[in-house]
Amino acid sequence: HLSAMCQNLGDLHVTGPLKDMNFSIPEGGAVRFIYQFTSEPPAVSFRATGEKDGIIDIVPRTGILFLNGSLDWETKAVHRLQVESLDEKGNTVKGPYTVTIYVEDINDNPPEFDQIMYTGVVRQNSRPGKPFMYIHATDRDDPTTPHAQLTYSILHHFPNPYKEMLFQIDNVTGAISPSKMGSYYLDPQKQDTFTLVVTVKDMAGMTANAFTSSADVIITVKESLWKAPPTIRIQENSTQVYPVNISQVCPWPQALHLSLVPQKKQSRLPFSIDQSGVIYVTEPLDREKKDTYAFFVVTKDNTGELVDKPLHIHIIVEDINDNPPVCQQAVTVIEVQENEGAGSNIGTLIATDMDEENTLNSRLRFKIESQVPPVPASNLFFIQQDTGILQLTSRSLNKRIASNYSLKVLVSDGVFQTICDVQVHVIDINDQIPIFEKSDYHNVTVAESLPVGTVILEIQATDGDEPGTGSSYIIYQMKEGDPNNTFIIVTDSETNRGFVKTNKALDFEATPVYNLVISATNPEPLVLGVQYNSSSLTLFKVFVTNVDEPPVFHKTVYKGEVFEDIPVNTLVMTVEAYDPEGDTVRYSLKGDVRKWLRIDSATGQIYTASTLDREQEEMYTVEVVASELTQKSKATFILHLSDVNDNPPLLAMDYPPFFCHPLSGGERAFIQADDADEQLWYSTFTFSLADDVNTRNNWEITKANATHAYLSPKHVNFEEKVYNVPVIINDNGKPPLERKVNLEVNICKCSSEKSCFIEVQREHSWPSTGQAIGILLGVLLIIGKSLFLGLYEKKQKREDLMVVYHDYIS
Ligand SMILES: *[C@@H]1O[C@H](CO)[C@@H](O)[C@H](O)[C@H]1NC(C)=O
Ligand SMILES: *[C@@H]1O[C@H](CO)[C@@H](O)[C@H](O)[C@H]1NC(C)=O
Ligand SMILES: *[C@@H]1O[C@H](CO)[C@@H](O)[C@H](O)[C@H]1NC(C)=O
Ligand SMILES: *[C@@H]1O[C@H](CO)[C@@H](O)[C@H](O)[C@H]1NC(C)=O
Ligand SMILES: *[C@@H]1O[C@H](CO)[C@@H](O)[C@H](O)[C@H]1NC(C)=O
Ligand SMILES: *[C@@H]1O[C@H](CO)[C@@H](O)[C@H](O)[C@H]1NC(C)=O
Repeated sequence: HLSAMCQNLGDLHVTGPLKDMNFSIPEGGAVRFIYQFTSEPPAVSFRATGEKDGIIDIVPRTGILFLNGSLDWETKAVHRLQVESLDEKGNTVKGPYTVTIYVEDINDNPPEFDQIMYTGVVRQNSRPGKPFMYIHATDRDDPTTPHAQLTYSILHHFPNPYKEMLFQIDNVTGAISPSKMGSYYLDPQKQDTFTLVVTVKDMAGMTANAFTSSADVIITVKESLWKAPPTIRIQENSTQVYPVNISQVCPWPQALHLSLVPQKKQSRLPFSIDQSGVIYVTEPLDREKKDTYAFFVVTKDNTGELVDKPLHIHIIVEDINDNPPVCQQAVTVIEVQENEGAGSNIGTLIATDMDEENTLNSRLRFKIESQVPPVPASNLFFIQQDTGILQLTSRSLNKRIASNYSLKVLVSDGVFQTICDVQVHVIDINDQIPIFEKSDYHNVTVAESLPVGTVILEIQATDGDEPGTGSSYIIYQMKEGDPNNTFIIVTDSETNRGFVKTNKALDFEATPVYNLVISATNPEPLVLGVQYNSSSLTLFKVFVTNVDEPPVFHKTVYKGEVFEDIPVNTLVMTVEAYDPEGDTVRYSLKGDVRKWLRIDSATGQIYTASTLDREQEEMYTVEVVASELTQKSKATFILHLSDVNDNPPLLAMDYPPFFCHPLSGGERAFIQADDADEQLWYSTFTFSLADDVNTRNNWEITKANATHAYLSPKHVNFEEKVYNVPVIINDNGKPPLERKVNLEVNICKCSSEKSCFIEVQREHSWPSTGQAIGILLGVLLIIGKSLFLGLYEKKQKREDLMVVYHDYIS
């Protein structure tokens, strides 16, 4: 061993006199020469002491300092030795000198996680980038070198339901946080546990030779604590000391500001919130004024940004019985005829209560407290406890004893009591009938166009009973001749004069003449033995004159549906109108801008006049006109065209595809097809190349999705020119239609931005009149439209991604 080592010595010229020396030696390795000290007489040998650690020594005779074993930086980074030279007798000649050996680290230790497995908990809707746990690894190599520079990453993400990971890791600190996607989509209802496989690499992850270790991270997703409490119920008019704690939300730790925002701007809220999330009601509520409240709790951080979505709080104000009954009228006046018998209903006392309807809080009970005067008895009246209906108890009333009674009725809701006043007026018996001044008002002639509500006649009857009572007030009614209530009669309560008015539009064609019989009656019943006779009736005729009216369609809108490929002269609809005067109606069309239809002017039958096309207009709307001699009217006809696959597919790209010259292999370009026909759900096109050898040898087409395919060159030996690639697109419809398109593919020089440069005025090339600058802009435009995704790096913003993923999820 050593002799071999000594032979090398001559070549290396690493010898010299004894002095203080430093050496830097990489760790590892085996037996190895370090240095040879030359001896100066009288020294004949050398001796080394100190931190030899069994692996460093000196050959006494030759002065060769050597390693007999491997240095290990991790065990000892510096070895300090003392070397001296000795004479024959073993006495020190020179020295001792300090020889220091610095061990150089090599990357010989993989990083190690401090745990085999980590667990963490994250809340739904946590802020993106906010760490909820840390992982940590160590590396025994020299921390001042890249050998111990660690970088963390996520290797696997189980499950990984979205296109982007829900978690992210800080590559330096090992902090794990939700990504933007995670903040949005984490939901324990959908997935409550995730397993991440995280890796740590040394060499700052910069080289493929870095050591890598991995560990599992189990993450549990918990429901967000930030959620609205269930509907809060607060009793109104409470006597507690305000503010009163009514609910609580759990604020986010980083939320610095909680506030309440009313649902409707500017409405004042009798609620407040403190920064620990407790919600208070600040004053007594009044259900009778407002029975529900809705508002939001908003959480913001110190920059004023929303920390999470606002919570919607609902409050229901519960009723207590805090409102007394109220009499509907200050005095309820009731008229009773002298002859009304025992048990008769004479009227109803109406009272209300503002407390919640259909609860005991608003249940009212009635009781008569007093009757003045109490003659001839003190209990002439009875009130039904739960309805307020007043009845006579037994005998009839007598105007000569008392014409007028005052009742005090106690109305009670269980807590509150109110007294309502009732006056009972005893009135004369109704023994006179109304007598008309005339038994026949003859007739009136009116045009059928007379406005509704016009007074056409005034009538008068008189009644001899006590004025101002129900015995003398007159109600006029149409007794005969007006089954449809075409007329009404209103009575002037002072004079009992009646006004006959039209109540509905008149129609000469339906009813040209009315033979009316009008009756006059009293609201109070007549006494026994007296009856209405013919003096309470009168006659009246109304003649309606004709006004020429326009024809009337049976419908205002006619709708039809046909396939777009029906033959010319197909009947698609029959419309019908009649003329109220019975004149002949002729039909015509208006607004038939496409000249697709014609109408039979006599029968109203509508036929197609030329071929239809759904791709031009799916809902074709025309007006149908019905005319008679002087009048006309209109209806609408809407023809809905159903799709037939009658359009072959076509390319839907603004610019031709291109490839940068020279080709490097692996390029592909997106091509897109479209079809004017209805795409029922998602059309599926088939793309293929024309069957010629040249094309098939040069190009390849592969399906990307329903509407897109990739075109790729099969080799790289293309010239810089425009190639014609015949592509066949089939729409797979019923019947299937296909189109052969000559796709002009540019193989061209590209700028550094990978946009294609096409020379001006190249014959037969795509942009026949375009200029190079135009092409360049065009290409950039296409990038914006993402039509050529295959060639360009996607530069989408995160917002776009969120939108896309939204769609993906829904
Ligand atoms: C080297 O070390 C081995 C054992 O560790 C020992 O047997 C051997 O003698 C040593 N050689 C020299 C030259 O010191
Ligand atoms: C670590 O992350 C930073 C940004 O977060 C990035 O710039 C850097 O390249 C990453 N380092 C490695 C080794 O991935
Ligand atoms: C609250 O209740 C008391 C009696 O309980 C009542 O007098 C008062 O009017 C009530 N206030 C409101 C606002 O309803
Ligand atoms: C009923 O009596 C009251 C007082 O007793 C009186 O003010 C009122 O005018 C009377 N009404 C009638 C219709 O007699
Ligand atoms: C009443 O209405 C019906 C149906 O609308 C109609 O047939 C009848 O002619 C009308 N009668 C009169 C008198 O207007
Ligand atoms: C109808 O009755 C009243 C009395 O109630 C009487 O004066 C009148 O003559 C009667 N009319 C006819 C037509 O009988």
